Amino acid sequence: MTGWTRRGLLKTAAIAGATGVGLSAIGRLGSLAAASPEPVVLQTAKIQARLMDIGPTNNVLTYGNAGMPPVLRMRKGEPFAARLVNAIDDPTTIHWHGIRLPNKMDGVPFLVQPYVYTGDHFDYAFTPPDAGTFWYHPHCNTLEQMGHGLTGVIVVENPDDPKFDAEFVLNLRDWRLGDDSQFIDQFRPRDAARTGTYGTVRTANWLDQPQYDAPAGGLVRLRVAITDVTRIYAFRVEGAEATVMALDGNPVPQRFSPDALLLGPGQRMELAIRMPDQEGAVVSLRDVRGTKPKILATVRATGGSLKRDVRDVAPLEVNPVAEVDLAAAQHISLALSATAENVPSDGICGSLGYSFWAINKVPWPGDTSDPTAPLAELKLGKSYVIDMENLTPQSHPMHLHGMSFKVLSSSTRPVQPLISDTYLIQPNEKVQLGFVADNPGDWLLHCHIIEHQKSGMTSYVRVV
Ligand code: C2O
Ligand code: CU
Repeated sequence: MTGWTRRGLLKTAAIAGATGVGLSAIGRLGSLAAASPEPVVLQTAKIQARLMDIGPTNNVLTYGNAGMPPVLRMRKGEPFAARLVNAIDDPTTIHWHGIRLPNKMDGVPFLVQPYVYTGDHFDYAFTPPDAGTFWYHPHCNTLEQMGHGLTGVIVVENPDDPKFDAEFVLNLRDWRLGDDSQFIDQFRPRDAARTGTYGTVRTANWLDQPQYDAPAGGLVRLRVAITDVTRIYAFRVEGAEATVMALDGNPVPQRFSPDALLLGPGQRMELAIRMPDQEGAVVSLRDVRGTKPKILATVRATGGSLKRDVRDVAPLEVNPVAEVDLAAAQHISLALSATAENVPSDGICGSLGYSFWAINKVPWPGDTSDPTAPLAELKLGKSYVIDMENLTPQSHPMHLHGMSFKVLSSSTRPVQPLISDTYLIQPNEKVQLGFVADNPGDWLLHCHIIEHQKSGMTSYVRVV
């Protein structure tokens, strides 16, 4: 029996009274439901899955009925609705990573919604304004739940997207399994205080090096999401011409070849790949970071060549993100550091029991009823620049909820003016992220290495 199971059982009785809050929130949403489409049911489920050759792994978590791992499809500008039904013995929520939506739909316990108890449900409804690749995951007991598999990729389609001959979605993640293919402890404190604890089994779509087929000489759209709790990847494509079309749900201003492109947990990329002409030729997506490079997935060319040209892929439509007014923007300083201060937390949604990290010297794990002041109070409609500085020797994929920012400048490298929700800040780097505070509410800002997030590297901004 795993840790989340025991905690779930113990806490359910003690705080069942709070369930009523969940029901009234659903009641309020119900009045808006007339315009909403039939909700997709996302039922959390505990299953067995074969992640290692030797036999099935127990206690794998997924969103049932959606395939494994699940992929959700939405359409830009069209209403979407989902009912989260919680069938695991641990409270949960869904956060729609990168999607700009109303604060009440953001899935962060205490800050915006009550968590959803075993046997309870919560209705989410929103209209995604941006097309691209996004993903969803719980925001309660996140390390355990995501570590056990609870993630899915979201494709927000744009009917005007360029046409491809094939499209694949890759959900990249590791699993912390022992030799018997069963889960081992999700983290080691000494690693949580450094890079985070790595998994032992690496997968793409829960498989070891899956192979897909695509027409020879054809154009492939490869959507990649890093849903791992820890691992940073350095991507390279071998065997074909490939260009990065989009990062973190937004088209890149200038396409480039993914030559050891560094992306961290929470980030996504979309590649346009021109398949080789030769039938049977194999294209591989690799992670070349660190000492153990790995082929993540391959695509094999089939049939006679379609003789397409990667330069024929029309530009993706830019998403309607408000342009930051740099002349008027107010600056917010944000320093990432290590801390020795220990902060107790109520932990219903999973405190690791340690504080290793801080934002502006405040360690806070989030997803808790323990209050902390917002990093800043922002005025609705005004422009802001976050001056973020990394005072640690580790890299941190810093994620802002609810609003997209533009990468303005970095102290250590040339940057494209990318629109994004997650920036992988390097050791000793200073970066400027500009955005318009156009979405009212409380929005988390945290490292997406979940052990860092849950041991202090979390804060939020308030837009009023
Ligand atoms: Cu993808 Cu606050 O998270
Ligand atoms: Cu971090």
